[in-house]
Amino acid sequence: MEAKSTEDWTEWIRAPSLIDLGCETVREALKSVRNSALESVVGSACLDRALRSVRGPFMSSRTRSLVDFDLLRLGARRRLKNAKRLDHSRRLHLGCGRRNVGGWLNVDVVDSDFDVDLAQMPLPFGDDSFDVVVSQQVIEHLDLDDELLPLMRDLRRVVAPGGAIWLSCPDMAKACQGYVDDRGAALIADKRRRGAHDPAKDNRPNQQVINFLFHQGGQHKNLFDLEMLQWIANTVGFEECRESSEAELLSTFREFPVRDDAFQSVYVKIRV
Ligand SMILES: C[S@@+](CC[C@H](N)C(=O)[O-])C[C@H]1O[C@@H](n2cnc3c(N)ncnc32)[C@H](O)[C@@H]1O
Repeated sequence: MEAKSTEDWTEWIRAPSLIDLGCETVREALKSVRNSALESVVGSACLDRALRSVRGPFMSSRTRSLVDFDLLRLGARRRLKNAKRLDHSRRLHLGCGRRNVGGWLNVDVVDSDFDVDLAQMPLPFGDDSFDVVVSQQVIEHLDLDDELLPLMRDLRRVVAPGGAIWLSCPDMAKACQGYVDDRGAALIADKRRRGAHDPAKDNRPNQQVINFLFHQGGQHKNLFDLEMLQWIANTVGFEECRESSEAELLSTFREFPVRDDAFQSVYVKIRV
């Protein structure tokens, strides 16, 4: 292919095309919501439409799925504006996914008891509304500075003194140790035993499990280990954050379904 000169490229970039039109739509939509709150119904609907119209032509599949998730978050924010005050349980299950647990307020971005974007603070609950919070395999989906630390700070407000917060997530220490020990073979064996997603399918090297734990297609923003979780808890003002286990969680709250993820995860219990 003949090399293009700078002028050629400039022309090409300026030429009207689907992508250009798409970018323009996104730019306009962003401009229209920049000054109003992102949550404004008109602004968010406009952004939603613009993003949907251009996601196909120029976004990578990873970007597309992240944008789609952000649109779900936007939807949760929008619905929250019209949500009625809830008479809810004092037990909060954050990022429940498909695991709706009886007797708990199961919260996620969509299809939950009460859809909430955990990246938007403050949480839509009054002070001291809960005695206990459980969140399994969610915090790694939140950006540390912009999302997780603010969430943890707000949990101090909504959980009553004497309460507890139970968290679990993939364990950075176990992932790294797994690579050093056998390049991920035992981590893969554990996933296969549980019928979980298999990053080493199609004869890929087992080490793909490390990539999967760290990134999960861009969904994972951070991995944590016990030290990092304790740092987070102390930074936002909790005095005690100790290592726990899935077994301890399940024996305390028998209604919770088994995840059987101890081999790759770290569990902590934070005292409020
Ligand atoms: C790996 S799933 C874990 C689901 C469930 N806790 C479990 O143990 O099977 C992560 C969950 O976190 C939720 N999540 C991630 N970011 C979120 C956000 N900003 N607001 C609300 N939920 C979020 C996702 O929708 C998803 O259901």
